[in-house]
Parts: sequence; C-alpha cells; structure tokens
Amino acid sequence: MDHFLYRNGLLHAEDVPLPEIAAEVGTPFYVYSAATLTRHYSLFKEALAPLPNLVCYAMKANSNQAVVRLLGDLGAGMDVVSGGEYARAKAAGVPGDRIVFSGVGKTRAEMEQAIAGGIRQVNIESEPEMSLLSQLASAMGATVPVTIRINPDVDARTHEKIATGRAENKFGIPISRASEVYRMAADLPGIEVVGIDVHIGSQLTELEPFEAAYLKVAELTRQLRADGHDIRRLDLGGGLGIPYTRTNEAPPLPLDYGDLVRRTVGDLGVEVEIEPGRLIAGNAGLLVASVLYVKSGEGRDFLILDAAMNDLIRPAMYGAWHDIVPVAEPTPGTETAAYDIVGPVCESGDTFAKQRAVPPVAAGDLVAFRSAGAYGAVMASEYNTRPLIPEVMVRDDQFAVIRRRPTFEEIINRDTIPSWL
Ligand code: LLP
Repeated sequence: MDHFLYRNGLLHAEDVPLPEIAAEVGTPFYVYSAATLTRHYSLFKEALAPLPNLVCYAMKANSNQAVVRLLGDLGAGMDVVSGGEYARAKAAGVPGDRIVFSGVGKTRAEMEQAIAGGIRQVNIESEPEMSLLSQLASAMGATVPVTIRINPDVDARTHEKIATGRAENKFGIPISRASEVYRMAADLPGIEVVGIDVHIGSQLTELEPFEAAYLKVAELTRQLRADGHDIRRLDLGGGLGIPYTRTNEAPPLPLDYGDLVRRTVGDLGVEVEIEPGRLIAGNAGLLVASVLYVKSGEGRDFLILDAAMNDLIRPAMYGAWHDIVPVAEPTPGTETAAYDIVGPVCESGDTFAKQRAVPPVAAGDLVAFRSAGAYGAVMASEYNTRPLIPEVMVRDDQFAVIRRRPTFEEIINRDTIPSWL
C-alpha cells in the first residue's frame, strides 16, 4: 500500500499533485511519502509485537537525513554499514544505543568511530574482524556488545547479486564453525557477545528461506546457551520483498513474517531485531521524469527520458522491473503502445524497460517510476556529469526539497588540478 494515487486526473504524492513538484524542482526527481514510510515501519512494529523488539531500518536503502529523522523519531533503530551511514544516523538524532553496525569489511576507523560515538552492537563477520574490534575496544577502555553473523547456507531464492546466505557468499561465519568462533569471542577482552545475527538476502518473495534460516538460528541459540553463552538478542536481518508490479506478485506481508518470527524464535525469550530496508522505503518513493523525445526506431519506438541509469541503476544492474506510469491519468480503455524506455546516457545498458506497454505519451509528459524509494537515490552516481537529482518529501499537502540538485560548479569544484599541471 502506498500514498501515490491518481486524483482529478493526476498522480499525487499524498495530497500533492506531482506536476506541482516538477514545476518547482524540475525533473528528474525522487519523491517520498512520509505517510508511507510511517505506515511501513508501524507494520513491522505490529507484526513483531508482543516480542521485545527493535526495528533497525537498513539505511542503505535510503539514507536521506529526512527519512532517517522521520523513522528515528518514530523510535526506529538504524542498521548502518559504513562510517558515513553511522554519521548520518547520528546527525539525524538517532542515539548510538539504537544503531547496529553491519557489514563484512568494517575498517579500523569505522570501528573506532562507533566505539567512541556509542553503538548498540557490532555484527561481527569474521575472526580477524573480531580480533581487531577486541583490540580497539580494549585500547579505548570500552566493552562493545557484539553478535556474530552466521551464514546458514540457505538459498534465499532471489537475484544472485543480492543473495547473501549461501556458503559460497562472502557473508558471515559458516554455521558449522559457530561454536568455535563463539568460544573465541568469549575469551576476548573488549567485546561482549549478546546474540546471533543472520541476513540471507534481499527482495525475498517467499517465507520458506527465512524459516529455514531462523530455525537454524533457534537451534544454534540452544546449542550456544548449552555451551554457556548468554544469547539474549537475535538480529534476524532484513530482506522481505515488495511487489514491483501491481499484478502478478504477492510477497508475504509483514504480519505473516511476524508470525513466522514468533513461530521460529518466539519461545527463546530473546529480544528480536530486524533490519528491513526495502519494505520500509521501496514503495514510499517514486522517480519522476520527463519524456524528452519519442523516437521511431527500426521496428520499435523509444521513449527517451531525462532520467537515466545513473539516477536509477536497478534495471541496468539487476534487470529489475519498475512500473512506469504516466503522471496524467490515462482515460479508461486507452490503448497502450510498446516502447523501449531509455535514458540519455551513452550506453545501451541505459534502458529502463524493453517493449513496455504504456499508454501513449508525448514529449514533455511526466512519467513516474514506482517502487523507487529504496536503492534508488542512494545508488545514484554522477556518471556523464549528470548532477544527483533532487529528493523531495511529502507530508499531506506539504512538500519540501530534502536534497537539492547540485550546480555544475559544485560538481566541478570538487576536483582539483595539481599545481604542477
Ligand atoms: N541487513 C543487511 C546486513 C543487508 O545486507 C541488507 C541489504 C539489509 C539488511 C536490508 O535488506 P532489505 O530489507 O532492504 O532487503 N541494491 C539492491 C539491494 C541490496 C541489498 C543489500 N543488503 C537492490 O537494489 O535490489
């Protein structure tokens, strides 16, 4: 469910007609609905009740300060994977005791930053990383709560680039070696083991892989407790998928996911953390672009937009589908036409959709990419020196630019020409 609906013939973000935003900020731009973000966060909270829980929003999905502030103010924790994200969480007012630090390659500087600034827990992914954290924390006179991310060798049945729970993936510690690594952790100064972490992948559209992984985690919890470890917290990762098409997809709802969590780990007396990103932000955002040209090709027509792969890389990178709809509501019964929908970047990979049936559109029309709130703006680049596009947040009938479009000068001035050149 989202808050992007046609009203009076125009697609709106909550109560704001999109052409109004386009007129003010120019296209292309991202627009996020505060109501949708709030609702998605609340769905997870309801789904996990009555288990003690913390929903740690995976900031990698969309780390704009306004988004982080909104969710942080609702009580969300944050899952960060870099010093930059940690700094963003702090800057948005999220306290360290609600921030968890994930990621397979944390640097010394990132660890020191988290220890100094306060951290709820660090999710450890390897023995060398654990040793370094122990060393740094000891030197700083701190004791850092940690979980160890285990790799349960479960097939998440998602796109290979975003599956993380198979033995061949770089993530976590093989579950077969868990007891050995937990024993090592127990003996190290500066860290305190508080639980287990698992994350098997993103855009999961079935519950079974979660179930397989969580059952393994439950089993491991019992085993580690029998070995004398105080396992009181389980970080169950993120990954719940969203429907990218309106028609043929029905991924499980947060409520079903919550039932599964209770069924698999609910009797262990643990605090549960989850790290959803996409489900909170994905359908809370649109990418709005203008049609530059309608071009007739050999046997196919192209819609050339002013948005490109540098603004939204998901179709080029994962072959991802995003619904693309005209902002002016098509009259019922309008015949569709098939277009290749492309951007202006000089590679054929800059294709958003091939032979996509859309209602006829003309140069100057606005179109909106749905489900673009997660892994959209955050994965954008300035390839072709195309400035990062603005982000806008809407609440009810108000909207605000939450990241403005940089000028060419700002972009160019980040470079320096050496004095000897
Ligand atoms: N926790 C960890 C440790 C993760 O690696 C991820 C995502 C999440 C949580 C959040 O997963 P989510 O709930 O958003 O599925 N760029 C890709 C997605 C990459 C996901 C990476 N890790 C895409 O556009 O589909």
